[in-house]
Order: sequence, then structure tokens, then C-alpha cells
Amino acid sequence: MTKSMESVEERPKATVIDGRAFAQTLRAEIAVNAASFADRQGRQPGLAVVLVGDDPASHVYVSAKVRQASEAGIASFPHRLDSSTSESELLALIAALNADERVDGILVQLPLPNHIDENMVIEAIDPAKDVDGFHPYNVGRLHAGKPSLVPCTPLGCLLLLQERLGDLSGLKAVIVGRSNIVGKPMAQLLLNAHCTVTVVHSRSRDLPKECRQADILVVAAGRPGMIGADYIKPGATVIDVGINRLEDDAGRARLVGDVDFAAVSPIAGALTPVPGGVGPMTIACLLRNTVSAANSRS
Ligand code: GUN
Repeated sequence: MTKSMESVEERPKATVIDGRAFAQTLRAEIAVNAASFADRQGRQPGLAVVLVGDDPASHVYVSAKVRQASEAGIASFPHRLDSSTSESELLALIAALNADERVDGILVQLPLPNHIDENMVIEAIDPAKDVDGFHPYNVGRLHAGKPSLVPCTPLGCLLLLQERLGDLSGLKAVIVGRSNIVGKPMAQLLLNAHCTVTVVHSRSRDLPKECRQADILVVAAGRPGMIGADYIKPGATVIDVGINRLEDDAGRARLVGDVDFAAVSPIAGALTPVPGGVGPMTIACLLRNTVSAANSRS
């Protein structure tokens, strides 16, 4: 073993941020709020979940959303539609859900089949029921720093960061990835929390150097293991949003993040695992948004 490897071995490992445990605490609080809504309104908060097609990963996510909604005292209205469903049929369903008083939140699982225009569908959802926070009305309100429904994954990341670090004011945050679902709203949330924010992406120059400036590094690049030790400032808090399915040599599916956990752990101060980090927080935040939409509509 070389001298430099020894010194890495001797370093304490990063604290593993337990997203599963935190999400469980959050779901217990949401269940209390859902029960209080039901007492006042004589009905449970309601969440419609729409899935078009047969993407296996989407089916797993949607089943988890429906099950956890029910456990938290939220009525769910699942709509599993055939992949041949037309855009106008889907828009008609959304119009019916917009008008349905039992439905407080509408989630259309993405991606949609290619023949359906995703933006058209997102913009058809009543912004007051947009529990994904993807409608331009909610995107604009988030950018203006006004109360809004906020995309679930970045909201989950923010809650994990605040739980770990408290006040985020003045911290340097670097976000890897600029998607509408994670990167862009994450940047806005951290800016609203008074961080100094940089967004980097596949065309950025010297990614490791940019990332090494970060007190907070949020990675949503969709590239398994791309973040190694040379991307990390010692003591940084690292949030791994990546969920990549890889097959091992025996053909078994294995989930890995965008961060090389073993390489980063001796350098970071704290790090989310995959699975068991951000994933459980996403669903908890969906339930939180549903109860919040229900309260705002009543
Ligand atoms: N597909 C992957 N992530 C998400 C999400 O947060 N919301 C929806 N609707 N679809 C997704």
C-alpha cells in the first residue's frame, strides 16, 4: 500500500445521511396533518397518480406513491393507462381530475410516451393541484421567491441539507445537472435559502475544479459513479440524486448513484447513500405537497 493510500484509509468516513429514517419522521408528521384535514373537512386529502405505458421503473415508483399515500391517510386515485392512450384522452382525464373536488393533487408520472407532448400535459394541470411543481405558474413563483408548490426531489434534498446543516446562508452550493425536475429548481431553492449557487453541466469546463469549491454538492447528472474523490472539498456535504440501475456479473439489478460512494466517503463530511438517501424523501415530499395543496384549496 502506498503512503497516500494509507492516509486516505486512516481518514474518518463521512457521516451517512439516513434519508429513509428522515422520510419516515416526515411521513409521521404528514399523517398527523392529513388526519387534522380529514377531521375539519370530512374527507381525506386526495392524490391522483396517472401513469401512461409500461415502463417498469415508473410502475415501481407509482405503486410506492400509492401505498405510502394510503399509509399517511391520503386517498389515492390511481390511473394506469395503456401506452396507446392518445394525448387528447390524457388531457380529458386531467380536465376531469381538475374538476374533481376529492382530488387535491395530480401527479402525471414522467416520462410520457413520445407521441404525447409533456409540456402540454403539465400546463393542463390546475396549478393549485400541481403537486410536482412543474407548471410554469409554480416555476415562476419559485423563481420570484413566493410560496408555491415545489418539485419533490429538490425539496427533499433541501430538507436533508437543512436537517444536517441548519441555516444554509452564505454556503457555497454547486449543483451538477440542469434538468427542469431537479437541477434548476434545486438552484432556485438554494438561492432562496441564501446560498451562493453555481450550476454545472456536461458542457462546463473543469467540472472537478468547480465542484471542489462546494460546501454543498448536489449531483443529478444521471451518470453512474461520475463524482470521484477529486470533485470533493474536504468536509463537504454531498447529496446524490442519481438512481442508476446496473447489472452485476450474475445479472442481478443493483442501484447506484452518480457519486462513487467508496471514493468520496473518506473526504466528504456527510453523504447520502443510494438507495436510502434522496429517493425516500421524494415520495415524502409528494405527500407533503398533497396535504399542503389540500389545505390551500379548502
Ligand atoms: N419521473 C421521475 N421523477 C419524477 C417526478 O418527480 N415526478 C414525476 N411526475 N415524474 C417523475
